[in-house]
Amino acid sequence: MMTAKIQIRGAMPSDARQLNHYIQRIYSTSNHLVTKPGEFRIRPFRQRFWIAGKASNPFETCLVALLDGDIIGMLDSWTDRRARVKHVTTFAMSVDPNHARQGIGTLLLDKFTNWVAENPRLDKIELHVHADNAPAIALYKKAGFTVEGTRKRAIKYNDNRFIDDILMAYWPNSSSVETK
Ligand SMILES: CC(C)(COP(=O)(O)OP(=O)(O)OC[C@H]1O[C@@H](n2cnc3c(N)ncnc32)[C@H](O)[C@@H]1OP(=O)(O)O)[C@@H](O)C(=O)NCCC(=O)NCCS
Repeated sequence: MMTAKIQIRGAMPSDARQLNHYIQRIYSTSNHLVTKPGEFRIRPFRQRFWIAGKASNPFETCLVALLDGDIIGMLDSWTDRRARVKHVTTFAMSVDPNHARQGIGTLLLDKFTNWVAENPRLDKIELHVHADNAPAIALYKKAGFTVEGTRKRAIKYNDNRFIDDILMAYWPNSSSVETK
């Protein structure tokens, strides 16, 4: 597929219903997200408010990837407004498995890192990834993220297997890193 056909934009409240279907689908197909499908119960009405909140918050975002008007990828970020940690943003992302390995994750991540680089309050991007999620770890390393730590056995799968949670990070403007 040509990534030229993919549109990446901020989510709009009118996306709420479609976004909910997308999220439900992703939770049903990926083991590598913390939320299980039955645990996602946000109705479109509330999702509209959540999207509107992201759209009006200058330090947080929800991006969607669209192909012919259909949502096939998503990245959302959040922050802590307390002064000592408000320079950090954390995010989560996904791409529809039917469109995997076509560069859409890279498009979403590039858009996000460029947005953070331009953001006057944000210096550091963090993420959490399951240690057995090789595709995601490869995507993040390729984008310049490095491993900063491990939360041992922080995730437990249905079959009682424990998985480590890896913390990765990236400084979009490396000049703002004094203690790296
Ligand atoms: C991880 C994920 C977002 C990647 O999205 P994507 O659109 O497939 O990624 P891209 O096509 O942009 O791939 C970029 C790079 O990531 C790496 N990568 C992606 N998928 C990979 C795979 N299955 N195996 C190995 N490397 C992979 C490669 O380095 C790839 O570059 P290349 O294709 O030039 O070799 C997607 O697989 C996904 O949504 N997974 C389920 C949800 C999830 O795990 N989210 C992350 C939670 S932390």
